[in-house]
Amino acid sequence: MNASAVGFYFLLLIAISTGYDREVKLRFYHASFEKYTELPLNEADKMLHTSWYNPNRTTVIFCHGFTGFPTGPAVTGIITAYLEQEESNVALLNWEYLASSPTPGLATSYVNWAAPNARQLGARLVDTFSLLSDAGLDISKTHLIGHSLGAQIWGIAGFKLRQRGIQLPWITGVDPAAVGFETKAPSHKLSPASALYVDVIHTDPSKYGLRTSSGTVDFWANYRAIGPVRQPGCGNQPSPAFSPEDLCNHNRSWKLLADAIKYPGTIIGSYAKNYKVWKHYSKEERVAETLLLGKYNTNARPGNYYFVTNSESPYGLKTDGL
Ligand SMILES: *[C@@H]1O[C@H](CO)[C@@H](O)[C@H](O)[C@H]1NC(C)=O
Ligand SMILES: *[C@@H]1O[C@H](CO)[C@@H](O)[C@H](O)[C@H]1NC(C)=O
Repeated sequence: MNASAVGFYFLLLIAISTGYDREVKLRFYHASFEKYTELPLNEADKMLHTSWYNPNRTTVIFCHGFTGFPTGPAVTGIITAYLEQEESNVALLNWEYLASSPTPGLATSYVNWAAPNARQLGARLVDTFSLLSDAGLDISKTHLIGHSLGAQIWGIAGFKLRQRGIQLPWITGVDPAAVGFETKAPSHKLSPASALYVDVIHTDPSKYGLRTSSGTVDFWANYRAIGPVRQPGCGNQPSPAFSPEDLCNHNRSWKLLADAIKYPGTIIGSYAKNYKVWKHYSKEERVAETLLLGKYNTNARPGNYYFVTNSESPYGLKTDGL
């Protein structure tokens, strides 16, 4: 091989490897966070013929948000909680490159790159789920969980799947992203039409998360009607956009879900028509109609559920939070 041929193959190798890196993948965990198989979406059906897939179990797939990545805090928190529970087949929708900030300025990257990518990916996943379903994935035992933009991705995928005759049973929206979605039609975001049961956890309705109800049931943690919602333990000083301090309220949503799995029965919401009604409820009225976070419950009364939490983990206060 002459030098130019070597150069050609070297560049080809780089093109293939970076191309692969930029590809959206499903990461399938083998009982531990460090041990996994990762496949591009159009090959993901291969996993259903391996020991990864236990058809008796629920298949949990988590989808991260803007600037998320496979070893980031949200992915680590949620995936670890479900792996330790040992009740599900656990996977991650790894869209790190499309969710990243490739241009200077996080806000610009969100608007011009990550959010449009999320919309396209949501639509594209229809083919992935058709493929997985054909290969034997029991769709009726799936639980799709998405944080921020990830919640909108599942929401769009769920709506489009229904148009194809595939009804997802369960999507959990973990503080679904507000910017670019709040005012969209239900077909273009997470909504009760995305799955049979859509449960949503809101922790940052004043900034990065939706301020409107968007599920079958909506859990509002430490909500208040006047002034910005601030989760206990998060600062109230102004901080640069997308800094860890600035994301504290938005991040709390996945921390609450992780706790709901780790400490079952500790995070409970109580039903009310709206916050104003809940605020004036007596304790008896608050404990009259409650709902557990993190559980599939198609008998739940649709609507809003309120609760307060601790400032650190374990966050859940059981009925003391009502
Ligand atoms: C699934 O459940 C059935 C019935 O309980 C059992 O016979 C089978 O071994 C289980 N399969 C796996 C992979 O655990
Ligand atoms: C919140 O999430 C972002 C992005 O995943 C991360 O960079 C940041 O450290 C997190 N902050 C906290 C307080 O967990």
